[in-house]
Amino acid sequence: RQLGLIAGALCAVIASTTLAADKPLQVATDAAYAPFESQNEKKEIVGFDVDVLTAAAAKSGLHLKFVNTPWEGIFATLGTGDRDIVSSAVTITDERKQSMDFSDPYFEAKQLIAIGPKSKITKFADLKDKKVGVQTGTTGDEVVQKLLGKTNPNIKRFESTPLALKELLNGGVDAVVADNGVVVNFIANNKNDKLKTIDDASFAKEYYGFAVKKGNKALLEKLNKGIAAIKADGTYAKIYKKYFGN
Ligand code: ARG
Repeated sequence: RQLGLIAGALCAVIASTTLAADKPLQVATDAAYAPFESQNEKKEIVGFDVDVLTAAAAKSGLHLKFVNTPWEGIFATLGTGDRDIVSSAVTITDERKQSMDFSDPYFEAKQLIAIGPKSKITKFADLKDKKVGVQTGTTGDEVVQKLLGKTNPNIKRFESTPLALKELLNGGVDAVVADNGVVVNFIANNKNDKLKTIDDASFAKEYYGFAVKKGNKALLEKLNKGIAAIKADGTYAKIYKKYFGN
């Protein structure tokens, strides 16, 4: 009888560990950020980040499920345990490092200014007395705050970067400050509306990383091992070429 009990308990343990192993890691992504993450016609989440993280995770035997998650509050989902990873073109910053851990960087980016076709703006400093669109809580928001002041009503905050860029097309803002890749992609896909860009020398280089809950060393190690492996075997270069050319 006792043996039966022990066997039963063992089975339960085995069953629960297999279940846990099969449950994919939940990946938070704000999928309105092409070419890094967006939804295709079939509502599948696709993009550079998806390919990089999926390939890196596979090297470490991790299974993923990407879940479209609003940018506002996206980092809080790590703390609550609703998501295991944030993969959302997230810039690694000292401030964010206080409350979450980041993988090794997987992409270099920079802020870029988008302006309308007839705009006289030529440099970042010209935005001082202009209406500037940003995505709330992004590094674009942070750099604009430094110039205009955090509570300046001329900072127009949007829940996604494409919404800010659409408002620029509508004339509701004078400029948008956002990550270069997403601005360039938006303009390429809206060929009739001639937005221009300004690459200002004052903007610092930014590096994207995958964020995990602070202290989740085991997962970070697996991700970093995977990132290193796809960089070493040419997979990363192939994915890069697919989205950005050479
Ligand atoms: N790189 C910027 C940041 O970390 C913007 C990222 C926004 N990503 C997104 N999927 N909406 O603040």
